[in-house]
Amino acid sequence: MSFSKDFVWGAAAASYQIEGSTQGVDGCGESVWDLCCRKSGFVKGGDTGFTACDHYHRYREDVALMKEIGLKAYRLSVMWPRVMPEGTGPVNEKGLAFYDRVVDELLAAGIAPWVTLFHWDYPAALLHRGGWLNPDAPKWFEDYAQVVVDRLSDRVTHWFTLNEPACFIGHGHRIGIHAPGLHLPDGQVMRAWHHALLAHGRAVRVIRTRSKQPNPMIGSAPCFNTYYPQTNRPEDIEAARRLMFEARGRDMFHAPLSLDPPLKGGYPEDVLRHWGADAPVIGEGDLELIGQDIDFVGINIYGSGKVRAGQNGEPEVVPYGNDYPHTYFNWPITPDGIRWASKFLYERYGKPVVITENGLANMDWVSVDGKVHDPQRIDFMARTLSALRQSVDEGVPVLGYFHWSIMDNFEWAEGYRMRFGLIHVDYATQQRTIKDSGYWYRDLIRSGGAQLPG
Ligand code: FCB
Repeated sequence: MSFSKDFVWGAAAASYQIEGSTQGVDGCGESVWDLCCRKSGFVKGGDTGFTACDHYHRYREDVALMKEIGLKAYRLSVMWPRVMPEGTGPVNEKGLAFYDRVVDELLAAGIAPWVTLFHWDYPAALLHRGGWLNPDAPKWFEDYAQVVVDRLSDRVTHWFTLNEPACFIGHGHRIGIHAPGLHLPDGQVMRAWHHALLAHGRAVRVIRTRSKQPNPMIGSAPCFNTYYPQTNRPEDIEAARRLMFEARGRDMFHAPLSLDPPLKGGYPEDVLRHWGADAPVIGEGDLELIGQDIDFVGINIYGSGKVRAGQNGEPEVVPYGNDYPHTYFNWPITPDGIRWASKFLYERYGKPVVITENGLANMDWVSVDGKVHDPQRIDFMARTLSALRQSVDEGVPVLGYFHWSIMDNFEWAEGYRMRFGLIHVDYATQQRTIKDSGYWYRDLIRSGGAQLPG
């Protein structure tokens, strides 16, 4: 078997990481990432997202490159403070019009836009009003979502609400390595978390009720720890499954913390037990709101843990040795992760799966021949997509795969050092070069996946 004809071969990027033109350009408001970029030492190398890939001005060229690669879909995000500079209230028409143009350009190129409403560029104005801690935060997000949906849903049919709450709440509000750089006590972290899930639910409701096209497809793009068994022995498989779904501490990257409330009606008992007095306070009607029906389970997946059943039958993580293949980010290369994660997720939640992000940082540069040779990325994609095909063959409905990323971009606290793109960006000249992997992906898409090894 192989991937079906309508399998969605895509790639992704996010507003703050590529657009630039944040500093008041065309009325754009300030985001928490702008604030943090100005804070000395927050981003490696003192890099900022103020210019990034200048996609704001170069989107036509970028969409033409996506077309050359043959993408079926492109996952983009909308910058909230570009559309609503104060986070609520007045809409910045020039900002909103930018996304109109991008969507039109994509559709004209035959590429379906899959739109993420929030990929971390939270309005600074709302942070000053308490941000995700404010009980009004879910409503603020709903109002913003409504503006975007009213404007784009005549052309956009695929939506993601939030990108990776585990990161923007966990990294952003608990350990402070992402914007807004806070170290809140756990009770407040969980309050922010619960508000983010409520915001998700409100946005789903808005899309469902206001979409101008019938039957919008709605999901989110969470990230969490994923595990795969060391061998095919049933006890190892069970050990990996247990590690993925049983809470073992106060872990923001625990899959059921993100997925059980929207898909199973509430937080699991063991999660609530671990967070104890700091667990979210659940108001009347909250769980119904969070549990709005969604159409698929999205997953951003990079490295996964290898697991076996230990002597006592308990799951045991098998460490990767120093000599194990790792990416430039030092993440282990684990193609089996995608196969088992999609299988485990489908078993537990019964929804089709979309790989909303997957990729690697690699040491890429322009060679003397003017090309960018990145055989590691090609090998990574070949292995990963073969493993994904295996899960499709095993009966998991996987709707699509979005490679992270379409182009090199601002990798948050790491700045521009980490290159994830299928397209190389020279930030000094804004010159784009499709990497070897981009051409390889083009051929793969043309063949419908047939050229994969194995
Ligand atoms: C994910 C983010 C994405 C990108 C990749 C490498 O956590 O969603 O923006 O930074 O990691």
